[in-house]
Amino acid sequence: MGLWTLSIAFAIYRSIAERKQQYEENLKIVARISYEKDLLYRKWVSIHGGVYVPITKTFRPNPHLSFIKNRDVITINGDSLTLVNPAFMTRQIYELGKDEYGAIGHLSSLKPINSFNAPNKSEKQALLRFEKGDTLFVTNDTINREVFYTYVRPFITELNCLKCHAQQGYKVGDIRGALFTAVPTKEFLQMKNEEIKSSLKSFLFIWFIGSGLILLVMYNLQKQVKARKIADETIVQRNTALRQLNIDKDRFISILGHDLKNPFNNILGFSEILTGEIEKLNKEEIKDIAGNINKSANITNNLLEDILMWARVQNGNLVFQPHILCLEDIFKNVIEVLRPGAYAKGITISFSNPDQINAYADKDMLKTILLNLVSNAIKFTNNGGAININAQGNPENLIISVSDNGIGMQKEDLSKLFNISEVITTKGTANETGTGLGLLLCKDFVEKHGGKIWVESEFGKGSDFKFTLPFNAETDKVNVAKNVV
Ligand code: HEC
Repeated sequence: MGLWTLSIAFAIYRSIAERKQQYEENLKIVARISYEKDLLYRKWVSIHGGVYVPITKTFRPNPHLSFIKNRDVITINGDSLTLVNPAFMTRQIYELGKDEYGAIGHLSSLKPINSFNAPNKSEKQALLRFEKGDTLFVTNDTINREVFYTYVRPFITELNCLKCHAQQGYKVGDIRGALFTAVPTKEFLQMKNEEIKSSLKSFLFIWFIGSGLILLVMYNLQKQVKARKIADETIVQRNTALRQLNIDKDRFISILGHDLKNPFNNILGFSEILTGEIEKLNKEEIKDIAGNINKSANITNNLLEDILMWARVQNGNLVFQPHILCLEDIFKNVIEVLRPGAYAKGITISFSNPDQINAYADKDMLKTILLNLVSNAIKFTNNGGAININAQGNPENLIISVSDNGIGMQKEDLSKLFNISEVITTKGTANETGTGLGLLLCKDFVEKHGGKIWVESEFGKGSDFKFTLPFNAETDKVNVAKNVV
């Protein structure tokens, strides 16, 4: 834009300078033509030694010519005639055309015969220059408040002039005086100004069009740049997300492999004993081995269920369908499922919902959360311990907690619980294994509800897992947005 404006400004400057030059040249041409015509007339009159014209009441003989013998003559018809010198003639002609014809012509000399021919300021300047050898003097004069372009050249004495000027001592080639032509500038000035104005208008128009185009191009470029930036950012974001997902999956597979190994080893070992030595075993032993196989198969099955669930969450295939749910029913159901495991360790599970609050949640997800938290609690609670599921708060801000009086956790392990890259597997109090995957599932599901999950724990005294299930209009929106991402 700056360059464009500069070049237009330069073009305007050039154009104005050109118009000014043109203006001067035009004036010079007109002045020269006027001057040359003037000179020719004077020369013509000089060749004839002046011309005779009739004497009238208004036209009287020139007193400055009184030294000429035949200044006044009478024709054979009796008409009186008088001699007119060139200077006198042209003065009269200019007087005649003063009003219609703007140009002024004038003869002057530093030693005038006629005081009327005394030089004005610029003529005097010109005459002094001519004496030093100059042959042209040009300037602007203000005459009667009007500006004139004045063109002055020396008037040289010729043979023809000597008839009247010899007596002053002039010789051929002397500078007799100056011939001065002044052209009014008004019309030329107007023309110049109008031309400048119209060229200014054209330049402005061009500037506007050009600027418009530049702005348009700039606007489009900027739009493209912005769009590309956004696209780049999205790609970077997606890449990071994908990379994280990949890391998570790798990590997950390694945890899984590690955790599946134990139960499978058990199943393999026990089934080998069964197939190889079934004849040698008594009924009681067979029952024991079959029980062990069943237990390991159950663990594997639970793991597989978690894996499938996790995969569905990661794919975004899990549809979030919240309803108003009766919490007691859910609690009872979860406890029912887990009772055998708890019973084996002599652990009691109870629940409380003092304010009879209902939840607004997805039934399957809430169940999965509770199943995971409670089975975790069973895993980390010693024989004869107690677990309690509790609901408190209000429907807008419901807090559900699963507390146990188990072994608890070290402070530094608390923060690692819900982070897949740090998932830790700790053996349970009865050597139970697990992926730690369950807690990650819980976190995902709680977040789908717009809630938070955290743990309060004291090493040796037990853990308290808590999560919120807020019930607000935003819940749905948050999840729609999350699913889109
Ligand atoms: C017929 C006589 C006559 C001739 C020829 C003549 N002049 Fe003059 N000229 C005069 C007179 C008289 C004046 C002064 C009175 C006047 O202004 O009318 C004068 C005035 C001038 C002036 C003005 C300065 C002044 O002294 O007042 C100049 C310059 C001049 N003449 C130059 C010339 C030149 C150059 C020639 C030859 C090309 C020439 N004249 C031919 C008679 C003549």
